[in-house]
Amino acid sequence: MQAVILVGGEGTRLRPLTSTVPKPVVPLVDRPFIAYMLQWLAEHGVDDVIMSCGFLATSVRNVLGDGSAYGLRLRFVEEPDPRGTAGALKYAESMLDERFLMLNGDVLTDIDLTAQIAQHERTGAKATLALVPVEDPSAYGLVHLDGENAVLDFLEKPSPDQIDTNLISAGAYVLDREVLDLVPPDRKVSIEREVWPLLVGNGLYGFPSDSYWLDIGTPDRYLKATFDIIEGNVATEVRERLGNDYLAVASEAELLGRAIPPAVLERGVRVAAGAHAGSLVVLGQGVSIAENATVERAVVLDGTEIGEGAMLRDCIVAAGCRIGPRTQISDGVVLGEGVTIGADNTIAGGARIFPGVTIPDGAIKF
Ligand code: GDD
Ligand code: MG
Repeated sequence: MQAVILVGGEGTRLRPLTSTVPKPVVPLVDRPFIAYMLQWLAEHGVDDVIMSCGFLATSVRNVLGDGSAYGLRLRFVEEPDPRGTAGALKYAESMLDERFLMLNGDVLTDIDLTAQIAQHERTGAKATLALVPVEDPSAYGLVHLDGENAVLDFLEKPSPDQIDTNLISAGAYVLDREVLDLVPPDRKVSIEREVWPLLVGNGLYGFPSDSYWLDIGTPDRYLKATFDIIEGNVATEVRERLGNDYLAVASEAELLGRAIPPAVLERGVRVAAGAHAGSLVVLGQGVSIAENATVERAVVLDGTEIGEGAMLRDCIVAAGCRIGPRTQISDGVVLGEGVTIGADNTIAGGARIFPGVTIPDGAIKF
């Protein structure tokens, strides 16, 4: 089975994490985000993946290689200019099989694609959209179905008065090649706004699912995805790594303080005496936490150093940062790569600090 993954978006809502690393390869727990998607696809018989890239395509290719690490063939296609969700597919047309999957490249899910493909075959659909319930459908594509799962209408980014159901498109489609005949070439085309409406009543079906599903496009949801992976709420390979005590401590870690599960501590992590890491923590390779510091509900990427008595909670800290003694960081803050925060600062309220910025001692009490 073939799959096309759309990864052409700039990931602006995940800045500053995506200022230096393209969204598909932003690390999530212990692997590039898109690796979860490749593993999920491989489990459902996908062996040929086309990544439809825009922004920083070369670095995506450098991280993922030819796909052999994931047991599939991986190819990359770069549009000359952003073509939108259908235009990008059209641009890859010469590589596509008679039937294939198409995925938005920013979702974490374990939807049963095998059952979705089986329904697609049973109904004779041209396109079958996986559907999941969400609390607030306004940021998604809203779908109404009839009793046979045929789509009655598709409303992209519905306004409040249009929302009377919670079933939205999960960004995972089974498509027959003939759908491409509806896409004009050489221009930007949205599959949601320009193609699905043409297929309503003409082969567009929904596949409702109650599987785990999350669009990881914002810092809050990135943290939620991290916690859900290490709590085992979504089926991933990480769950096996964590074992029954939900704690993974890699080799060469030096644990003088406490690690409270669920937690992942990578190679060379150091947690000093009186410090604690967890629960709900991921510490990348070589992260060091000095005496009496606390890190909980947080992601701290490779090589970051956290000073004595510092407190990090509900935040994301990219690689190579330095956090001074007694500094407190909480409440959805995101620090980009190589940020230095001096001693005795308090940073909260979802602040985002861009790569390489330095904040002196005692400069911020947010
Ligand atoms: N190659 C390419 N070119 N990829 C693109 C382009 C483009 O011009 N524009 C967007 N993409 C990719 C993004 O990188 C992302 O993986 C996917 O297409 C969807 O784009 P988003 O910008 O994330 O869309 P959204 O989240 O607002 O809405 C979409 O996803 C929802 C589910 O998360 C829609 O498909 C909704 O209908 C759906 O409910
Ligand atoms: Mg999205």
